[in-house]
Amino acid sequence: MIRPVDVLLEFLAAEQARGVTHIHLDEGARDGLRGLFHQSKSTGKPTAEVSVKVEPMARVEMPILEAPIEKAAPVSQLKVVGNTRIEQLESLRQQAENWPPVRALGSLRETMVFSTGNPDARVMLVGEAPGYQEEREREPFVGPAGQKLNDILKAMGLSREEVYISNLVKFRPSMPSQTTNNRKPSPEEMAACLPFVRAEIEIVKPECIIALGGTAAEGLLGLTGTVTSMRGKWHDFEGLPVRVSYHPSYLLQSGGNSQVKRQLWEDMLTVMEQLGLPISEKQRGFFLTK
Ligand code: URA
Repeated sequence: MIRPVDVLLEFLAAEQARGVTHIHLDEGARDGLRGLFHQSKSTGKPTAEVSVKVEPMARVEMPILEAPIEKAAPVSQLKVVGNTRIEQLESLRQQAENWPPVRALGSLRETMVFSTGNPDARVMLVGEAPGYQEEREREPFVGPAGQKLNDILKAMGLSREEVYISNLVKFRPSMPSQTTNNRKPSPEEMAACLPFVRAEIEIVKPECIIALGGTAAEGLLGLTGTVTSMRGKWHDFEGLPVRVSYHPSYLLQSGGNSQVKRQLWEDMLTVMEQLGLPISEKQRGFFLTK
């Protein structure tokens, strides 16, 4: 007999394989899942009785309505210790584990996910916050969005190990009855973590920064609006050039939209030009529609 839970698992695996990272569960679905959970606890296996309706949640690009975030706690509250970049970043990582402003909020989850990559990188990428997979592996961008990011870097002739990959918020934002679902961090959560990103930028000293998505641009640059309105020009973060582009998960959720792909790629070409990286004719033509 095929159990509803197997159908659900198969559906979720298929959705994940095609890059979907958010699933909307309505109240009925939540009740169904709670029922499955309680029955599996009492009988040791899920029952065949419960039917669960899950609907993929479309991720649309929305204007960001919140006010720019409050000025964050100054970097000086952090103690950057060590002689090398590796040691200095390690001292940040240790402080992030129990950073009082984050713990005081009580709205972020327990596990801290610090940055990854090359402390001497020429380019730093800043995302939003870790998700389900990142929290499990304690590494940024390892889920479906991370796979897409790896592909983008590869197309640029770069690898994860060569760049520095950070998130604005170092903890996964928590939600009631949370499973694999994620939410955007609040302005307060961004402000609580901002000193770390600032300190990372000061230590790594990249030649340029890529803000992945509207949330990173909002937190880092105080921008509001759509990514479409933020991209296509250089911004400034304390003297460093910043390019805003689409978040890789937006690329996944836009279902291979060739215009989005090309726009993101044009942002990356501009970054490559800024860094003086070689660009072949083939690379220049990626994602152009014939
Ligand atoms: N999305 C982000 O913004 N960061 C991650 O680390 C993973 C997904």
